[in-house]
Amino acid sequence: MKVATHQLRCTECGARIAGSAVNSIFRCPDCNGLYDVIYPWSSLPNGDTPASDSKLPNASALRWLWQERRTSTMSIDQSGVWRFRDLLPIVDDLEHVVTLREGNTPLYDLPRASKALGLDWILAKHQGMNPTGSFKDTGMTAALSVARERGFEWVACASTGNTSAAMAAYAARAALRSIVFIPEGKIAWGKLSQSMDYGALTVQLRTDFDGCVRVLTELVSRFPIYLLNSVNPYRLEGQKTPAFELLEQLEWQVPEHIVVPGGNLANGSALAKGFSEMHHLGLISRVPKVSIIQAEGANPLYRSLQENNGEELIPVKANTRATAIRIGNPASWRKALRALRTTGGWCEQVSEQEIALAKAEIGSEGIGCEPASAVTLAGLKKLVAQGKVGREERVVLILTGHTLKDSNYTIDYHRGELFTEEENAQISGSDQILHAALRKPPIVLEPDTDIVFRELESQMKLVHA
Ligand code: F0G
Repeated sequence: MKVATHQLRCTECGARIAGSAVNSIFRCPDCNGLYDVIYPWSSLPNGDTPASDSKLPNASALRWLWQERRTSTMSIDQSGVWRFRDLLPIVDDLEHVVTLREGNTPLYDLPRASKALGLDWILAKHQGMNPTGSFKDTGMTAALSVARERGFEWVACASTGNTSAAMAAYAARAALRSIVFIPEGKIAWGKLSQSMDYGALTVQLRTDFDGCVRVLTELVSRFPIYLLNSVNPYRLEGQKTPAFELLEQLEWQVPEHIVVPGGNLANGSALAKGFSEMHHLGLISRVPKVSIIQAEGANPLYRSLQENNGEELIPVKANTRATAIRIGNPASWRKALRALRTTGGWCEQVSEQEIALAKAEIGSEGIGCEPASAVTLAGLKKLVAQGKVGREERVVLILTGHTLKDSNYTIDYHRGELFTEEENAQISGSDQILHAALRKPPIVLEPDTDIVFRELESQMKLVHA
């Protein structure tokens, strides 16, 4: 079936090209800008409606169709990305789609966090429940399918760990070869193990993520290797679909706020694109605010907004234990800025201690996430304290990665070994109390019934007959 009807539009100079005409680094040859994928029905940047012949998909027909596909046994219908394929016609032939039945992720409420913050409800859309444990799967199914259709044999990415895990898995499914560049010693073991398990050629470079990107850019410029970092706009077409799925789960009631972590700064803009397309097509009546939260040690967007109102990016030497977002020179910062401005969201930064506390709180609700995902709750606390999020407003946190991605972090936290003494001393008295209640270090005992029972008694305040 022929379904592709898209072009790429430069987000800087507005130049439009055919998808197949894009260069290997996905940058506009005239102005170095990144591309957006656009369709005949897309709205124009100035908000104008497109050409009159651009048949707008019908909102209620789409809702019905997406719902119907839920009961189908076809793999593309079971995928929580391709179920929405009417709004991402990026491959000519659906036979080329590579899917692991990604998406379809749960939406949980966080009653204890809501109560603690005095908000009516906070929900968590858990993208860590994807096949490889992160939101990257939704983007990878899209871009890898394009790579396959265009006949590439090799794909590559630079990664802080989750993109590489996702790419390796999808490449393996498609029988393509994959090359991963990761910063040596700076990614979580769970993620490194995945890329090996799925058979990628894994290259650890003695540099940071930004250094890996430089080497990768050279590589794809010289060899016929398909670039799968988030500068590839097809990734973002997949990553916009959780916005559709979320609204479906909320019965098309639009929440006030969406909060996402910011690293290379593509995902916030992908979701904002999804919301604005739904708005344009009449599926929703307004778009939620999309806010982006960075770690203090990897805060180039936050700094740039503070220091020059986002005129220019101020790259930083990134350092945070939330290794997924340890990025100092994010490629998609302009797209992120646009997402903040078009939706009315904010950019905040959070400390290492605030991240650890928020992660423990999310874990204590029986949900869990990796450290980078927890910046969402930590950032929300700040937005509430600043009066930017009202108590009656509905907030959805996007949890981007599974808790098992970085179990070392979790174990260190609970054993009280995550922070230096100096860092511990910076924690406020009230947060110290919260940490103390949340920390659950394992207890090591001799296998003697009396000793075990005595310990349990003291822990559980058990009185037995
Ligand atoms: N959360 C997690 C768990 C991530 O892995 C990433 C990015 C982000 C948030 C930030 O998303 O880059 O779109 O702003 N990880 C990339 C990787 C960089 O290589 O896995 P972003």
